Amino acid sequence: SEMEKGTYDHFMLKEIDEQPLVMRKIIEAYENEQNQLVLPPEILSATTGCDRIYIIACGTSYHAGLVGKQLLEKLAQVSVEVHVASEFSYNMPLLSGKPLFIFISQSGETADSRSVLVKVKEMGFPALTLTNVPGSTLSREADYTLNLHAGPEIAVASTKAYTAQIAVLAILAATTAKAKGIQTDFDLVQELAIVANAMEVLTQQKETIEELAHAYLDTTRNAFFIGRSADYFVCLEGALKLKEISYIQAEGFAGGELKHGTIALIEEGTPVIALDTQAGVHGAIRGNVQEVVARGANALVVSMQGLELDEDAFVLPHVHELLTPLISVVPLQLLAYYAALHSDCDVDKPRNLAKSVTVE
Ligand code: AGP
Repeated sequence: SEMEKGTYDHFMLKEIDEQPLVMRKIIEAYENEQNQLVLPPEILSATTGCDRIYIIACGTSYHAGLVGKQLLEKLAQVSVEVHVASEFSYNMPLLSGKPLFIFISQSGETADSRSVLVKVKEMGFPALTLTNVPGSTLSREADYTLNLHAGPEIAVASTKAYTAQIAVLAILAATTAKAKGIQTDFDLVQELAIVANAMEVLTQQKETIEELAHAYLDTTRNAFFIGRSADYFVCLEGALKLKEISYIQAEGFAGGELKHGTIALIEEGTPVIALDTQAGVHGAIRGNVQEVVARGANALVVSMQGLELDEDAFVLPHVHELLTPLISVVPLQLLAYYAALHSDCDVDKPRNLAKSVTVE
């Protein structure tokens, strides 16, 4: 069954490997007979009728929300704010006139997110929950639910739920754009199918990625992830993954911020993983790589096919530029997995953490 590890040593690796299948399940779940993505009309009325979307989530789900904001703003031309649930709860920003709240939660049981949901429902605002557990608290208490279709996620470190969240947010963005009559030449069914194939290629490169984990992460106490634009959001997720299961102190930050402080931490041998998937900031991130290498960093560049410059870059198969987070995260998940494995950490059940955080 889905709850068993089968031939895998850890649920996390099994769940990383399931990502291509999850992408295909999501397409199947949300397409009609004409192979067009469709969502319930009441959900599209909510996204087209609001003046601003507030995405509320924690941890990895928050990181998916950051990617979702970009998709919703670029494709559907709707303003989006993304907030960490706990902060939003006691420091609520000035709200727009017609807000729509979107809660993103794998488990649907996260107390910090639920506390915001209870508050905004009391204020009379509509709420949509994206969750992997349709009968969960956050699903029942919201007006609408979209299922992530990722199947049970057992490992504490979230992997397939993150990519499922981004894919469902992309579907929400594309269907909202269509409902608003915005013309795009973006065929999401086709682009997600390309993503699924690219994920498959990446999950078949475990040996290479294990060697990279060995070369860059096995003996370090800290590591940095740098990226710009969408890559920055994936860097936050890559750093969280590495921290929670390998206990290596990791930080993800925007390439442009290096010179504003963090570069002071770069020493001889400091691992720096740089994402380079966005053509518009390619030159700028390559400049950052040169800056850290000049200060002794052990830099690993993860490049989109077509952008790679050096022989030792790890190259990602080409996907649509808006969807690169779905695939650039895969080698980062695997790097975290092998780094944890190499230091004998309990990959599926890291210390001090619970799968779903039901206390505020
Ligand atoms: C992810 O690897 C973490 N374990 C954690 O940040 C998680 O994403 C967070 O607690 C939110 O959980 P949820 O999606 O079930 O609400």
